[in-house]
Amino acid sequence: MSDALLLIEDRGAVRQIALNRPDKLNALNRAALEALLSAFDAAAADDAVRAVVLRGMGEKAFVAGADIGELTALSPVQALAFSRLGQQLMLRIEHLGKPVIALLQGFALGGGLELAMACHLRIAGEKAKLGLPEIKLGLLPGFGGTQRLLRLVGRAAALELTLGGEPIDATRAERLGLVNRVVARDALEGEVSALAQRLANAAPHALRAILHSIIVGGECGLQQGLDYESQAFAVCFSTEDMREGTRAFLERRPPQFSGR
Ligand code: COA
Repeated sequence: MSDALLLIEDRGAVRQIALNRPDKLNALNRAALEALLSAFDAAAADDAVRAVVLRGMGEKAFVAGADIGELTALSPVQALAFSRLGQQLMLRIEHLGKPVIALLQGFALGGGLELAMACHLRIAGEKAKLGLPEIKLGLLPGFGGTQRLLRLVGRAAALELTLGGEPIDATRAERLGLVNRVVARDALEGEVSALAQRLANAAPHALRAILHSIIVGGECGLQQGLDYESQAFAVCFSTEDMREGTRAFLERRPPQFSGR
């Protein structure tokens, strides 16, 4: 097994980025945050990458949170920088312009759940446990967790999870809309990989436009969101992929999207 902090592997147009600190349940120290930021910058810049899967190595955890060993020694000024670095990573993922799927086996806690919430889709194994337990450390989530959880599940559930700090199981997380789907553990890799492959085969410009419309739309008023959507819709008509997609439908054949 490699001792690299991240394991990065391309399967066709799908890039898998795996955190590789299984002995620490993939806890996010500063080095891991910086490595992830560089890895997502590289994925954004590489046109051959059309979808990303983010996961943790080992069976026990996706990510069990920010590294508490590092947190305990931070001054307030260092804590501000740490929080900002984490938030910068989450924004990088959210605004990647390519779909990112979090594969959640085991624990997704604290910064781990914040990382998963910055991804566009979350698929959980049936044994996954999700939570924001920072209150138990005398803290609150600092990588955007209060804000993204509120937007994903609404105020009542967000307050329950952050004030109580107790993790929930995958089934409850699915009911709340915190994960998209729960699958049997031995089917998890296969399901995520099939989903990622389907997304990687889609028209990249349209994928990017959908991601931006929905993410921007969550932050602005309806009229602004509708204006953004119309502009994005119109720009699709300048792509070869839109011509190919509509023609392929009319010719009753599968489309071949080129990314142009
Ligand atoms: N930061 C740093 N190290 C962590 C960690 C974290 N967030 N979560 C787990 N680890 C380390 C443990 O210290 C332990 O290391 P060690 O073997 O060198 O002592 C190793 O990972 C395994 O964890 P352990 O606690 O022994 O596993 P467990 O199965 O008994 O418990 C958890 C699993 C997830 C319940 C428990 O590790 C835990 O509560 N982690 C912290 C969760 C948290 O508060 N996250 C939010 C941080 S802001």
